Amino acid sequence: MDMKREKIASDFFRKNRNNLGNEMQENSVAIVFAHDELWRNGDQYYPYRQNSNFFYLTGIEQAGCVLVLRKQESRLQSFLFIPRADPTYEIWFGHRLDKEEAEAISGIAGIFPREEFERMRKKLLKNTETIYVDRLEDENFTRGISYAGQSFFDTLSSSAKRKVKSVAPLLAKYRTVKQKLELQLMKKAMDITQESFEHVLKKIRRLHTEYEVEAEIFYHFHRRGAVAAYETIVAGGLNATVLHYVENKDDLLSGDLLLLDFGAEYNNYAADCSRTIPVNGKFSPRQKAVYEAVLRVQEAMIREYVPGNTINKLNEKAGKLMEKELLSLGLITPEDIRKQDKEHPAYKKYYMHGLSHFLGLDVHDAGNKDTPFREGMVLTCEPGIYIRKENMGIRIEDDILVGNPPVNLTRNIPKKIDELEKIISSGNPPQKL
Ligand code: GLY
Ligand code: MN
Ligand code: MN
Repeated sequence: MDMKREKIASDFFRKNRNNLGNEMQENSVAIVFAHDELWRNGDQYYPYRQNSNFFYLTGIEQAGCVLVLRKQESRLQSFLFIPRADPTYEIWFGHRLDKEEAEAISGIAGIFPREEFERMRKKLLKNTETIYVDRLEDENFTRGISYAGQSFFDTLSSSAKRKVKSVAPLLAKYRTVKQKLELQLMKKAMDITQESFEHVLKKIRRLHTEYEVEAEIFYHFHRRGAVAAYETIVAGGLNATVLHYVENKDDLLSGDLLLLDFGAEYNNYAADCSRTIPVNGKFSPRQKAVYEAVLRVQEAMIREYVPGNTINKLNEKAGKLMEKELLSLGLITPEDIRKQDKEHPAYKKYYMHGLSHFLGLDVHDAGNKDTPFREGMVLTCEPGIYIRKENMGIRIEDDILVGNPPVNLTRNIPKKIDELEKIISSGNPPQKL
């Protein structure tokens, strides 16, 4: 029995399929492919992670599967194609789901061998006017990536007999608003993230490298059945000014700050948290001043996660608050602001990224910068200040449930200066050499 996973009842996936069905036009079909396994080298694959849309609709965490939803006369039918049993595969890589198991997980009765997909495809698409395909959405990050859904989309689009659309916007309407079960799983991911951070705080004075800190985080993720939801950032000193620094290879130096961007993924649901701490347990006065500035912006912005707001509006407001803080810190001048180009405001020199993104199955989850907030959505709040010439980067990131008032779901992960210093000093003192 899989002890690492909480069993999710098939009703959850059935409901998700029905919700998608409600958004689909009459006489339409939606096709979603499982992610392929990604070859690493020799006879090794990268650790498998299912396509989030496919997981959301089926609960199946296996490569080689295809889901087809067919809507006709307001009735929705589901067909799931799975690879046939293969004794050789099982010897090397383990068990693959059979029909009964796939049905129990997904609640789909119409299960067929994968190779039947090609044969049944014509029949399934007959009399349909619209086909929704789960394609790659963000060209910035997926150019050159191979994904069955994208090839399928391209082939269908070129034949132009029917309307071919992307399924993602239909699903986003639902994926953005978290159900109770999803919030429970996310909360668990956040609790695991919190536990790992508290251990880091207590041990930090005896850890000497970024990768030792990373190991401490991973230890607490893995022992509770989680993995990292994204590449963990453990960045001391200047490394923290590299926004996507993930090598985590350097020594930690007393007097430096250490930026951690770390989140557990539990049952495929993500937490996303950033904290910044002093390596030697004490913030210097300057570090304190910059830290407090970031924290003030963050706390003010958390109050803005109310229905009707959008990421774009948040970014605008956060930019204004940040501008004020950077002026007080002497990092920018009124002259810089007067001369600034609207497209490249002065504050961007020290705060280069956005404030927020949706969070859920994916760390950058369904939903975009214009999606109006609704109750039950979860987004991050993550301002930062990065000052290369002062050898420091500070980011504070929490996960916020939209509501009136908003709820900070990661509020128990320590972030106040005196709290951080107190926990660090309660831990093991540095080892005398
Ligand atoms: N860790 C990814 C992010 O904060 O967006
Ligand atoms: Mn984030
Ligand atoms: Mn993050």
